[in-house]
Formats: sequence, C-alpha cells, structure tokens
Amino acid sequence: MQIVKTSETLSQALAKQTAIAFVPTMGNLHAGHIQLVELAKTKNACVVVSIFVNPLQFAANEDLSKYPRTLDVDLAKLKAAGADIVFTPSEQEIYPDFDASTNNTHQSISINLPSIANELCGAARPGHFSGMATVVLKLFNLVFFNGAQTKIAIFGKKDFQQLFIIRDMVKQFNLPIEIMAADTKREEDGLAMSSRNGYLTPAQKLEAPRLYSELSLLVDAIKQGNTDFKALEARSTECLTQLGWIVDYISVRSAQTLLPATQNDNKLVVLGAARQGTTRLIDNIEFNLTA
Ligand code: PAF
Repeated sequence: MQIVKTSETLSQALAKQTAIAFVPTMGNLHAGHIQLVELAKTKNACVVVSIFVNPLQFAANEDLSKYPRTLDVDLAKLKAAGADIVFTPSEQEIYPDFDASTNNTHQSISINLPSIANELCGAARPGHFSGMATVVLKLFNLVFFNGAQTKIAIFGKKDFQQLFIIRDMVKQFNLPIEIMAADTKREEDGLAMSSRNGYLTPAQKLEAPRLYSELSLLVDAIKQGNTDFKALEARSTECLTQLGWIVDYISVRSAQTLLPATQNDNKLVVLGAARQGTTRLIDNIEFNLTA
C-alpha cells in the first residue's frame, strides 16, 4: 500500500492505471468505511482511499478542531483491507491559500447547489453541502485526472442527502464517473456506524439506536397504509423529544427527488437527524411501497 501526500505524487502513482475505484473519507475509519473499500476491491481496479478532514464543509460552530484524527490506525485498517493507494493531503495541498490560524480555506469559487441542499441536514448546517461537493469535485479531479477508462467512486448510503447531491453533481457536470453506494453498516443494536459515535457517552450510546428504531416504526406505519406523512413525522419527533433528543428533522421524502413524499411516490426514504447532547446523529431507511 502506497501512502501519498501530494497531488503530484498521486498523479505519478496513478499514471498507468486504467481502472480506479475511489473511496473518499475523512478518516477515523470504522467497519462502514471498510465495507466501501471491500466493494472497491471487487471492481478489479486500483483502490484509492483519501483521508482528508475538509474544513470547507464544517461551519464555524461545528466540530472541525475536535473531529477525530486517527491516521496510524486508519492506515493499518486500510492495509488490512487491501487498499492500494492512500491519499492524505494537507489542507494547503487541497486549498493552496489555506490559513491555519483561522481555518479559512480562501476557496472563493465553490459548487453552487440547488435548494435541496438547504433542506434536511443543509438547514442545520448552512454551507455544508457546498463545501462537501467542492472537495469531492477537487478529489475527483486529482484522482481521475489521468483519464483511466474505468472511474468508480464509492459512498455510503448513511449520508443519503450527500449521495443524492454527488449523483446530481456528476450528472449535471457530465463527469464520466460511476457513483456506487454501499448500504449503511450498523452495530448489532441498529445504530448506524459513524465517526461521530465516538463522541457519545456510555448512556447516550445506549439511547442512540432509538433514532433507527423510531425511523423503522415510521416505515412500518407507512407500509401498513398510513400516508399522513406529516402526522407520522410529528409523532416520531414528539417521541424522540420526550426521551431527551433534540430533533433537527424527521422527514418522509421521495427517494428519487428528495422532495417531500406525496401519495403518488413509490420509492421512499425516511430520514432523520437528532442530537444526543451535542452529538448530532443521522440515519435513514430507503424502501419501496410496492414490489
Ligand atoms: O462522507 C464524508 O466522509 C465526507 O463528506 C466526504 C465525502 C469524504 C467529503 O469530505
């Protein structure tokens, strides 16, 4: 496994590759990330993983400085999983005008996203998706620049809205990249694996799976014929709030457009974001109403 820190070394390392499967991450890798690498390994391609905590997708009041950075452990996990190249750029490598004293990227041109990026997680995290899409586009340019014939990028379905926006960006900018998605990896109790789970206290960790169980109850109710989505969202929100959660949103959406679900939608997704203390957890369940 080769570890590269600069764009130049990355481009040299990839120069002769005809097939690349790329897994972008922010590190602090868990079994969910490793599952993405395992999927990449099935593609008969050079498997590239990036580890980069992207300042542009964190708002000033968010957890950029305390976001877990565990490079040595991550590298060991990636080696065991069979990654070929790990790209670990500095902030300056990705953002040449980066100012470490203020964490300012000085990235004055960024991806402008449609209004859906201001809903759901975007409502609580203004600018997050624009920062995310901007770095993903930069990483795509760096990793796929050599013109490999097969270009695959792999993301997790836990970040459903992120995946939706990336697919849209790839379509709208005619990027010749196949986007693949892997199912959310869960703990035995149902909690979606996330780097932010490490912030939870033992008591919060016991309570955390309730977000998924509440979404599952909502899905069951819809499958049983209750299509009063607003009432169902309100009931789940109320239930979580009663138990001490601070709910950002519980929302039933079309899985195809991410717009609020209507009676005519068959492919649905129920999404939720809620906080245990200061830790914000997200989850979703995608399902079809008829086979
Ligand atoms: O999902 C993540 O870890 C990040 O949003 C991504 C896609 C690596 C971009 O920084």
